[in-house]
Amino acid sequence: MTDPRPILFFDSGVGGLSIVAPARVAVPHARFVYAADSAGFPYGTKSEEEIAARVPALLGRLAERYRPRLIVIACNTASTIALPAVRAALDLPIVGTVPAIKPASAASRTRVIGVLGTDATVRQGYVDDLAARFAGDCRVVRHGSAALVELAEAKLRGESLADGAVAAAVAPLVDVPDLDTVVLACTHFPLLADELRAAFGAGVSFTDGGPGIARRIAYLTEGQAWAAERAPDVAVFTRVDDSVAALTPALAARGFAAIEAL
Ligand code: DGL
Repeated sequence: MTDPRPILFFDSGVGGLSIVAPARVAVPHARFVYAADSAGFPYGTKSEEEIAARVPALLGRLAERYRPRLIVIACNTASTIALPAVRAALDLPIVGTVPAIKPASAASRTRVIGVLGTDATVRQGYVDDLAARFAGDCRVVRHGSAALVELAEAKLRGESLADGAVAAAVAPLVDVPDLDTVVLACTHFPLLADELRAAFGAGVSFTDGGPGIARRIAYLTEGQAWAAERAPDVAVFTRVDDSVAALTPALAARGFAAIEAL
């Protein structure tokens, strides 16, 4: 028995590639489809209503076209707002990406944690709940940045980033006294790991959702059959334009040689 159904990853842009990387290691035989809502990018500056209306409908169309065995919403903004609606609409397992506050709380010595996400994510009640459940004895400082999302996209297009741009985007969090752990609560941000390490300095460490999602995917697909000869992985965009063309080398380097339009 072979089963050609892929795993579908979904984000507004290229951020979900930070989730794809650990997932490749966890399920090496899996075929991946990477879907980016380039026509709706960015999500972080949108309202809850816009995201809740957009994401389930798009995932429905993607599920119909690619028939995945599992969908990973590789986007904190979409997950913290639309996860219940997506689960209600689709009859297949859905894995969401939510801020990795639990591992951050386990790692923090000073009990001062930063949550660095999009503006939409950091204002969600979902983040209040995670902070109360897993970091009740910590000071949890939130910071939203749209600039950082744009910088991650630019980096993957091969553009060089202006000196100090990443540092300026995170300056309010860098200035927080005793901060020792930062949750990268937007999947775009691990793509800027080197720049963020430089901006925060050696005393601060980072957590993100990637490792936990990879473990969850491995668990949910354990014992499943895969195709003996895997079809090529594809990246699909809701709008294919010059920005997408500029991403071609970064996508190919991560195994997505073919690009399609939804
Ligand atoms: N990568 C997304 C996240 O994890 C959102 C980026 C955006 O479109 O603003 O939140």
